[in-house]
Amino acid sequence: MLYSLKKLRLSRYEQDAMRNAGRFNAQLLDYLRPWIKAGVTTGEIDRLVYEYTRDHGHVPAPLGYQGYPKSCCTSVNEVICHGIPGDYELRDGDIVNVDVTTKVDGWHGDQSETFLIGEVSEEARGVTQCAFDCLHLAIQAIKPWSRIAEIGDAIVAEATRRGFSVVEDYIGHGLGREFHQKPNVPHVPTRQARAERLEPGVCFTIEPMINGGTKESVLDRTDGWTVRTRDGRVSAQFEHTILMGEEHPEVLTVTKLGPQPGFRF
Ligand code: MF3
Ligand code: CO
Ligand code: CO
Repeated sequence: MLYSLKKLRLSRYEQDAMRNAGRFNAQLLDYLRPWIKAGVTTGEIDRLVYEYTRDHGHVPAPLGYQGYPKSCCTSVNEVICHGIPGDYELRDGDIVNVDVTTKVDGWHGDQSETFLIGEVSEEARGVTQCAFDCLHLAIQAIKPWSRIAEIGDAIVAEATRRGFSVVEDYIGHGLGREFHQKPNVPHVPTRQARAERLEPGVCFTIEPMINGGTKESVLDRTDGWTVRTRDGRVSAQFEHTILMGEEHPEVLTVTKLGPQPGFRF
C-alpha cells in the first residue's frame, strides 16, 4: 500500500479508544515529572512507570516488547533513544529523555520529553529546545492529506538552520492496536514519505531526535538496545501521538503540566 493509507483509518469508536490511551499516557508522564531530578536513578523512574501503569489497570508496552527488559526508555546525554533504565543516577548537567508507552484496553499511547537536570551546557539546552520546536513545527506543518514528507521537510529546515543534525536511523510510526505499525514517519524527507498522505483517521507519532554533532548512530552491542551518537555529542528528543482529524491534526498526548508550544527551556 504505497499510495494509500486507507486501511489505517480508524473509526469514530477506535479514535476515542486512542484518545483515551493518549490521555492516560500523558497523565503518567505528568505523574513522573517531579521525580525526574538529580539523585534519582533511571531504574527508580522505571519502577514508578511500572507501578503507576499497573495500579491503573493498564500495561507498560515496552516491557517484553521484542525482548525489551524494562517499562520505559531513559536516554541520557549522548544516548539518542532506547536507553535501558538501571543504576545510573541522574546528576546536575544531564539531559534525559523519558519515553513512555502505555497499552490501554488494547490501544497505545506513546510520547516522550527531554528533561534538563539542573544547569546544563549550552549545547544540551540548544538541542533540547530544537527537538521541542521541531516537533511542534512539524505538527503545525501538516493537515489532512499532507504528504508525510512535509514532516521531515519542516524538521530538517529548522535543525539545519540551528546547526544541528536530524537522526535518520530511527523514525516515527503509526500506532493503534500495534505499538509500531504503518505508516513510517521519518524525520527527514524520503521518497516513500513523499508518496504517502496523512488521510483523516490515521494515528501516528512524530518523535524527532536532534544531535549536537553527527546524525550517525551506534547500537550498543552489549545490551542490543541503547543507541548513541557516533561522536558522543548530546542528543535530545520529544514525541507526541497524533490523530489526523478531518480539519487538522489532534495531539492525543497533551500533558497538563509539561512544556506547551512556545516554551523556552
Ligand atoms: N517508545 C519508543 C518509540 O517511541 C519505542 C521503544 S521500543 C522499546 O517508538 F522496546 F525500547 F521500548
Ligand atoms: Co514512538
Ligand atoms: Co516513544
